[in-house]
Amino acid sequence: MPPFSIKQIRSLPTLPNVMNQIIHTLDDPNSSAADLERIIRNDQAITTKLLAVANSAYYGFQHEITTVRRAAVAVGFNEVRNICLGLTLMGFLHPSTFADRRAAEMLWLHSLAASEAARILALRSRACEPSQAFTAGLLHDIGKVIMAAFVPDKAKSVLDYVSQEGCGYLEAESALEFSHENMGRDLAGFWDLPPVLMQAIGRHHSLEKEMGHLPLVAVIHAADFLARDLALGDSGNGDAPVLSPLALPAMGMDLAALDDCRRELRDLAPKIREQWEGMMQSRRRA
Ligand SMILES: [Fe+2]
Ligand SMILES: [Fe+2]
Repeated sequence: MPPFSIKQIRSLPTLPNVMNQIIHTLDDPNSSAADLERIIRNDQAITTKLLAVANSAYYGFQHEITTVRRAAVAVGFNEVRNICLGLTLMGFLHPSTFADRRAAEMLWLHSLAASEAARILALRSRACEPSQAFTAGLLHDIGKVIMAAFVPDKAKSVLDYVSQEGCGYLEAESALEFSHENMGRDLAGFWDLPPVLMQAIGRHHSLEKEMGHLPLVAVIHAADFLARDLALGDSGNGDAPVLSPLALPAMGMDLAALDDCRRELRDLAPKIREQWEGMMQSRRRA
């Protein structure tokens, strides 16, 4: 049987226009807070949710933030972009599309933790741009979202294989020729995301020395490792987290620096959980 292809899914979700525009501001060094404001202002639902997040206890502002521009000034251009991406992505994690709502929420927490970890690692290593690392961290397991939402039987067959064969999750995916990396990569292609994001999504468990965007891929791989190591959320992958030997050299980091990043992420964990809970609530209200 040929490997499963994303083309076999009818009614694949299209990328919301607002999210496409937000992601492409990543690639444009000339983009500004004003451009972002123009994009966001046209989307009432996102604007409302953005203001709710900007006014949450997470940021701790004393005065209420009532406009997108104020939010951009107060929390920062990159932060607004990331919040909007996160909020838009949650549309794909809506419980109605998932048989297992709890698993969807835990995958979301894992993704949020990985995105914060990726930002910390990028800042520390200077291997890649922190806000691009944040976005790639948020999206890295999007293939799992698609599997769970659109081909739940096949997603379950991977878990069944794991328990029948007593093997690891990635090993089961490869035996069944159905991998969340490939699904995510193909979805990123379908959505016309920048190639650097496609590679980070498609290769975060399978680093190779010669790959074109190795520093970012290594950051996402290590971010996934740290999020799982600290048990922040659950990616649905029961394997013990293992760091590729290529990761640290690709980021120009040593073990001590990685430990610093792990501590930083651990200290941030309560805030990540708080932000996650806020997002889950805003989604429930939506
Ligand atoms: Fe993954
Ligand atoms: Fe992951």
